[in-house]
Amino acid sequence: MEKIIIAAIADNGVIGRDNDLPWDLPEDRRLFRDLTLGQAVIMGRRTFESLNGKPLPQRHNIVVSRTLAPQADIHICPDFDSALTIAQTLAEKVFFIGGEQIYRRALAVADLMILSHVHGSFTGDTFFPEFDANQWRLVSEKDYPGFQQQVLRRQFRQ
Ligand SMILES: NC(=O)c1ccc[n+]([C@@H]2O[C@H](COP(=O)([O-])OP(=O)(O)OC[C@H]3O[C@@H](n4cnc5c(N)ncnc54)[C@H](OP(=O)(O)O)[C@@H]3O)[C@@H](O)[C@H]2O)c1
Repeated sequence: MEKIIIAAIADNGVIGRDNDLPWDLPEDRRLFRDLTLGQAVIMGRRTFESLNGKPLPQRHNIVVSRTLAPQADIHICPDFDSALTIAQTLAEKVFFIGGEQIYRRALAVADLMILSHVHGSFTGDTFFPEFDANQWRLVSEKDYPGFQQQVLRRQFRQ
């Protein structure tokens, strides 16, 4: 199963503010939807709450949380590894869709990163983790209004 990080990151590393996105980029949302439809998505509890506590339609929603009560249409996993194990039974691809805590864990296991580099610096309280760029090879890049999408593939594992 392919394991993919998908994130939108400002020039200063910010990914979120007050449990929301600091920007409004419809094209980025459309790309996110098109890429993830039909696949499994793993998110942290705070990111799930930022979606108004509703699952993303037409995707296998997996929420990592030690506190969330069971609810319909989502899988709740008490740790990252069990989320990954469930994802493997559900879809061909799993997307790690945030937030910061999930990206920190996902960086060790992901094969691919699809990063929207949002132009500009934003005030925020959550950040994409630092990663070793030498471990990743640029596969493609494409410009969109307000951001550049880069696809990176891991070239070796330490
Ligand atoms: N720019 C982007 O692409 C993007 C994408 C997604 C989210 N975001 C933003 O990121 C921010 C949220 O990020 P965040 O780091 O604060 O929160 P998060 O990663 O979404 O969720 C954190 C919560 O997930 C659970 N969790 C995470 N790792 C766990 C583990 N290993 N084991 C068990 N539980 C675990 C815990 O829930 P419990 O406390 O319930 O145990 C933890 O409090 C928001 O502002 C959101 O809008 C940005």
